[in-house]
Amino acid sequence: MITGKTKVVAVIGNPIEHSLSPPMHNAAYKQLGMDYVYVAFKIEKGNLSHLIESAKTMGLVGLNVTIPYKTDIIEYLDEVDDTARRINAVNTIRFKDGIARGYNTDGTGAVKSIEKYTDLKDKKVLVLGAGGASKAITFTLLNHGINSLTIANRSRDNAIQLIDNLKKQTGFDQISYVDIEKADIILEDVDIIINTTPIGMYPNVDADTPIKTEKINGNHVVMDIIYNPLETKLLKMAKDNGATTISGTNMLIYQGITAFEIFTDRTPSYESFEKALLEQLK
Ligand SMILES: NC(=O)c1ccc[n+]([C@@H]2O[C@H](COP(=O)([O-])OP(=O)(O)OC[C@H]3O[C@@H](n4cnc5c(N)ncnc54)[C@H](OP(=O)(O)O)[C@@H]3O)[C@@H](O)[C@H]2O)c1
Repeated sequence: MITGKTKVVAVIGNPIEHSLSPPMHNAAYKQLGMDYVYVAFKIEKGNLSHLIESAKTMGLVGLNVTIPYKTDIIEYLDEVDDTARRINAVNTIRFKDGIARGYNTDGTGAVKSIEKYTDLKDKKVLVLGAGGASKAITFTLLNHGINSLTIANRSRDNAIQLIDNLKKQTGFDQISYVDIEKADIILEDVDIIINTTPIGMYPNVDADTPIKTEKINGNHVVMDIIYNPLETKLLKMAKDNGATTISGTNMLIYQGITAFEIFTDRTPSYESFEKALLEQLK
């Protein structure tokens, strides 16, 4: 029951009505018997500047931040964790002792998803796409001992900008670019493939795959960060070729679990998040 003692966590964004975070977090509070509630607020851009002070005034425990505010929110925070600062995007804020501190859990969510299936150490990784999600994932991957990173993208300039930034931030220089149209040429020399483009996302589930799949085989681990549908055309074709496949629900769940830990210092079960998510995606 919600009472005067119930602690409040929220997600902000615009649009926000279809956010999957409230059902996942609320299911975990219930499972752990915690007196918390997680709600969603649609915020207009002009109101972002007062949001953090208002949230502090009302005693919120924390906030998740989604599209389009992950970068714009940074200037209003008191502190930003080093990873989020380097990625230049915050998706989680904890309020503690009057301080608003920002974090980014997207990259951690992706890395934990892959580590469930394979070790990242010394692996050659191909990431498709160079947008916001790619930035968080590639930066985090470089802190996990991979051998090399190739970024395949439609716009060369966007990929080169990301690569230059990653090299500057991490000092790691085994990073190269390939045109996404020709990325299948290097598949023989890659262990892990991660799709961060929206190609194959609902409702365009029958669109072409982001790369040609003929050369994907049983030696590959393929993750698609799209979670609707649960199995994209890329994952289906990769699985048919014998590859190990990882659905985008894994990343969504682990980024949420990592945020939950930041908010509450407790670890929810993967199953509580997963069950709530799959009920929403049915
Ligand atoms: N599972 C999760 O937890 C999770 C978390 C975050 C995001 N996502 C999903 O990740 C996807 C990307 O999100 P984002 O925020 O990174 O988007 P974004 O910043 O807009 O980046 C999109 C990337 O995909 C490329 N792209 C877009 N349309 C393309 C097309 N038709 N052909 C080839 N390349 C195309 C873009 O290439 P250009 O550089 O050429 O424009 C860019 O590199 C979305 O589907 C989102 O739902 C999932």
